[in-house]
Formats: sequence, C-alpha cells, structure tokens
Amino acid sequence: MPIQSNFQLTPIQRERIKSSLLSDEFLDLAKEKTLPIETLMTYYRCVIMEIETKFCVLNEELSLEDDRNPIETIKTRLKSWDSVIKKMRDKQLPMTLSSLEENICDVAGIRVICSFQEDIYRLAEIFLRQDDVKLIRRKDYIKNPKPNGYRSLHLIVEVPIFLKNQTRYMKAEVQFRTIAMDFWASLEHKLRYKKNISEADAELLAGELLLCSEMSAELDNRMQTVKNRISNAENKSSASE
Ligand code: GTP
Ligand code: MG
Repeated sequence: MPIQSNFQLTPIQRERIKSSLLSDEFLDLAKEKTLPIETLMTYYRCVIMEIETKFCVLNEELSLEDDRNPIETIKTRLKSWDSVIKKMRDKQLPMTLSSLEENICDVAGIRVICSFQEDIYRLAEIFLRQDDVKLIRRKDYIKNPKPNGYRSLHLIVEVPIFLKNQTRYMKAEVQFRTIAMDFWASLEHKLRYKKNISEADAELLAGELLLCSEMSAELDNRMQTVKNRISNAENKSSASE
C-alpha cells in the first residue's frame, strides 16, 4: 500500500527550495564537498594511465625479440563511484576516503590479455621487477582455479603517480588472462547477472561452464606446446644458418 503523507509543499515553497538548490552558494558548497572525491578518482585514473603505459612499453620491447606482440589487448576501467560506495557498504567499512584507499584495491583496474599462458607469467615477472612497482597481493587462479572454473592471475600493486608537488603511491588491480580465459570469464559474468534463469538451469549452466573452463585450460596448454615447438624449430634453423 502506498504510504500516505499529509505533508504537502505549496508551489511557493517548492519554488523556494528549487532556487536555493540552484543558488551559487549551494553549488559552491556541493563542489567543495565533492572535490576530494573527484581528486582521488583523478589519481586512480592517473595510475591506470601509468600502468597501461608500462605494459605498452613492454609490449613494444618484447615484440622486438620475438617478432610478435605478447599482449593482445589491454582493457582498463575505473570503478564507478556507485560501485565503490556499494562495496564499502557491503564490507562494512568506514565511509571515509582514507578507508577507501586502504581497503578497496580495485578502483583502478587493468586487464592484460595475452595469447599464451607463458606470456602472462613473463610479463607479470618483468612488471613486478620494476623499481617503482610494489606488490601488495598476488592471487594465481591459473595454478589454482576457482571452484567455478575461473582462471586468471591477479596482482594488487601500488604504483607511483608523479603530481605537481608530490609523488603518490596508488593501488591498482592488474588481471592477466589468456584470450581463452577472458572469453570464459565474460560469459560466466553474463550468467552471474542474469536474474530470470531457473535454479535448475543455473546449476546446469554452471556445470557446463566448469567443463568449458577445463577444455579452455587444455586448449591453452596445447596451443602453448605448439607455439613452443614452432619457436624451437625456428631457433634450430637460425642456429644452423
Ligand atoms: P573483491 O574485489 O573484494 O571481490 O576481492 P576478492 O579478494 O574477492 O577478489 P578476487 O581476486 O577474487 O576477484 C577480483 C576480480 O576478479 C573481480 O572483480 C572480477 O573482475 C574477477 N573475478 C573473480 N572471480 C571471478 C569469477 O568467478 N568470474 C568472473 N567472471 N570474474 C571473476
Ligand atoms: Mg570478489
């Protein structure tokens, strides 16, 4: 039943509220209050740029050695403010910017997609060797896939951004996946957010996805083996030339 309210604003009162909400004083106050949030989100955008550039540089350099690019695609995303707030609420964190910075590690997200599994470990190792990259946490869901079949290598890192008057270390989540892992994760993500699937169907699809994950892991391994054999053959023939 709709809630009945006896509280009614007169047209004049409504006009007054509207004009005070649009007053310069109120707009200035709103701007002043949201400035620290906008500033922090800008810093996260900057760290995304820093990390993306690091991988673009590595991709260029490594392609000189191998005559192919180890990275297929780099995807980046800044978590929306709504999602940040929801995550803090779900984790029951204090609603402060310092608690956000401390506890929410994936406001800045970078996904590095490679053709081959060995490229993932090679890139992650080279990236972590860089002087300014601090590793906070590493989760290897390739060696230890999640029970649903999710595979990916996750690094939570801190990387500096160089501002006008300060150097600031910002956290970011870097996910490394093969094309097959990414394909699988996109489909699984779609299923996760479908509301109108019956429980029986969801169970069936979850089983099917687990099987697909095993098949895609097998595909990744076999493709890697084929690629290694081709590289070995190339190396042998260039050594004998
Ligand atoms: P939270 O970010 O608080 O969830 O921390 P966590 O420790 O649970 O992070 P985890 O490393 O498990 O996952 C972080 C991110 O990886 C998610 O936001 C997704 O982008 C991705 N991810 C993790 N598990 C899955 C999964 O089962 N399916 C898909 N599609 N993506 C996943
Ligand atoms: Mg999670």
